[in-house]
Amino acid sequence: MNFLFWLSTLLTVVSVNGDLSQPRPLALASSFTHIYHQLDNIHLGNCSLANATMPLNATKSPLPAPSANLTLKYVALGRGTQNYTCPSNSSSNRRSIIKPEATGAVATLFDASCLAAASGSLLHEVPPLISTTPLGSLAFMAALVAQGTRSTNLIIGEHYFNGDGDPLFDLTLSGSKSWIATNKKAAVPAPNSTSGSSNDVPWLKLGYKKGHGIEVYRVVTSLGNPPSTCAGQNATILVPYAAEYWFYG
Ligand SMILES: *[C@@H]1O[C@H](CO)[C@@H](O)[C@H](O)[C@H]1NC(C)=O
Ligand SMILES: *[C@@H]1O[C@H](CO)[C@@H](O)[C@H](O)[C@H]1NC(C)=O
Ligand SMILES: *[C@@H]1O[C@H](CO)[C@@H](O)[C@H](O)[C@H]1NC(C)=O
Ligand SMILES: *[C@@H]1O[C@H](CO)[C@@H](O)[C@H](O)[C@H]1NC(C)=O
Ligand SMILES: *[C@@H]1O[C@H](CO)[C@@H](O)[C@H](O)[C@H]1NC(C)=O
Ligand SMILES: *[C@@H]1O[C@H](CO)[C@@H](O)[C@H](O)[C@H]1NC(C)=O
Ligand SMILES: *[C@@H]1O[C@H](CO)[C@@H](O)[C@H](O)[C@H]1NC(C)=O
Ligand SMILES: *[C@@H]1O[C@H](CO)[C@@H](O)[C@H](O)[C@H]1NC(C)=O
Repeated sequence: MNFLFWLSTLLTVVSVNGDLSQPRPLALASSFTHIYHQLDNIHLGNCSLANATMPLNATKSPLPAPSANLTLKYVALGRGTQNYTCPSNSSSNRRSIIKPEATGAVATLFDASCLAAASGSLLHEVPPLISTTPLGSLAFMAALVAQGTRSTNLIIGEHYFNGDGDPLFDLTLSGSKSWIATNKKAAVPAPNSTSGSSNDVPWLKLGYKKGHGIEVYRVVTSLGNPPSTCAGQNATILVPYAAEYWFYG
């Protein structure tokens, strides 16, 4: 029920937000109306993740499946930026052949376990809808809705890179003690959009860096890829993105 309320509130925010150019507010509104009506027909009482599955077959070559001894613990929607750098001291000729270098990412993680349990196909519609929605709007509305409904905060954590350059997931905002430093186990290109290539960051399988028994997947990515070269770019490039994160432990 809370997620439904959150979505409908988000619908309002997104519809009135003036600085969205792509996708258009009206397109967003009709997508959210669609999701809202679908959710209406689904019983959202119990969020057992027993039957939720990642759409690993959507990429040309699938990521390796989760280890058999692990179970799905959380599903989160991440919204943030992928960070890149370009050399500030090179000539414009050089810049037009140099590719931006990935330096990390930062994202806010929103609880999506109930949506994943209720309907994977609805969940997969969300990343493309929120990848360009201002993070401030999403975070503010999630906090307000959580307070208004006396639910736990819908923001369950943060994703960023630690001092060693490892992707880190901090879920302590959810009240759990989980935080995980990971390393990359596998990456595959995101499925191409209908227009051909993809602006979406690769799908990833991440493993627990120290110890065993934790795996994190980044799937159903939306945006986040850098411009193809450094031509005309600043030294730091922040590219908005959204994705689903699936946590197994
Ligand atoms: C919720 O799901 C769990 C695990 O599937 C089950 O044990 C529990 O009885 C369910 N609770 C309700 C209220 O349906
Ligand atoms: C999962 O799927 C099985 C088989 O379709 C079904 O019996 C079971 O009730 C489902 N469990 C949940 C929590 O939806
Ligand atoms: C991917 O798997 C899902 C079920 O897990 C199935 O419904 C779907 O048809 C599959 N898609 C492809 C392209 O194989
Ligand atoms: C640009 O700066 C980087 C890092 O400071 C340095 O490694 C590189 O040699 C410099 N390139 C040129 C063309 O000056
Ligand atoms: C990425 O950019 C954000 C926003 O400027 C910043 O907060 C974060 O520290 C950066 N992270 C990395 C790894 O560069
Ligand atoms: C995706 O697009 C790229 C570049 O346009 C192309 O090389 C590749 O074959 C496409 N992949 C699929 C699965 O269509
Ligand atoms: C789960 O299996 C993987 C490999 O299959 C292994 O590396 C890991 O230690 C196991 N974890 C636990 C908690 O048993
Ligand atoms: C470079 O940075 C300036 C100042 O922050 C900004 O106005 C400009 O749009 C940026 N250029 C690009 C290509 O992002």
